[in-house]
Amino acid sequence: MMVFDKVWFSYNARHVLRDVSFSIKAEEKVAILGGSGEGKTTILRLIMGLLKPDSGRIIIDGEDITNKGEDQLREVRMRFSIVFQEGALFDSMSVKENVAFCLREYTKLSEEEIEKRVRELLRTVGVEQAISLMPDELSGGMHRRVAVARSLAACDPRMFLYDEPTSGLDPVSADNICRLINDLSKGGRGLIIVTHKIFDAMRVANRFMFMKEGRPVFDGNKEELVNADVPEIRIFLSELTLSQ
Ligand SMILES: Nc1ncnc2c1ncn2[C@@H]1O[C@H](COP(=O)(O)OP(=O)(O)OP(=O)(O)O)[C@@H](O)[C@H]1O
Ligand SMILES: [Mg+2]
Repeated sequence: MMVFDKVWFSYNARHVLRDVSFSIKAEEKVAILGGSGEGKTTILRLIMGLLKPDSGRIIIDGEDITNKGEDQLREVRMRFSIVFQEGALFDSMSVKENVAFCLREYTKLSEEEIEKRVRELLRTVGVEQAISLMPDELSGGMHRRVAVARSLAACDPRMFLYDEPTSGLDPVSADNICRLINDLSKGGRGLIIVTHKIFDAMRVANRFMFMKEGRPVFDGNKEELVNADVPEIRIFLSELTLSQ
């Protein structure tokens, strides 16, 4: 269970999150929608303890992480697998080294065990054949898959966090990533997906939050979302009508 309790956050005295409160159970599948710059990525960074709120509390599995130090946060971070929005891979390292990086960082596995695990992870996301390639030799869709494999490398996450996992991808690759997201969440592991693409959100989530002016102005299921009378949500929904 993750709880945001009256969280305020600002960058350089400019408020990004204003009194945000919500709770998400570890097995839930939640999409955070909203316009550019509405604070969606900021929410994921706060969950990972990469940023600290100005005020309010963030409670994960009953523990208040708001004022925890780096050592304790490391342990909290291992409960999540996160795929970041930007620059998901290290450009100077091969696919293999990118995925192995987290294993070297977080585990004490031998080189042989690392190689085996890297292959397993790449197979899981369907890009084992790319093991020796460099990131700039990958297509966008393969890049995202490797990023997912890398995020899975560190641990057996309780919950998946995805920041715009399908942006910039063609519809077929986006569809593949959505399938992968759904497959990984089989067995009751929850997810939070931040996305502009309402169609993809609907494929993987069943609870939707819509951010506007620094806070969620909508929080509900699919049926409630399609009937919501928030003007911005109506605009997001028009993408669906177009794709029918
Ligand atoms: N490191 C930073 N320093 C200063 N301002 C920042 C920083 N990161 C983000 N911001 C600002 O905070 C606001 C929220 O950013 P955030 O990245 O959370 O938005 P977002 O909802 O994820 O947007 P997008 O959909 O474009 O990814 C934006 O106005 C952005 O300009
Ligand atoms: Mg973002």
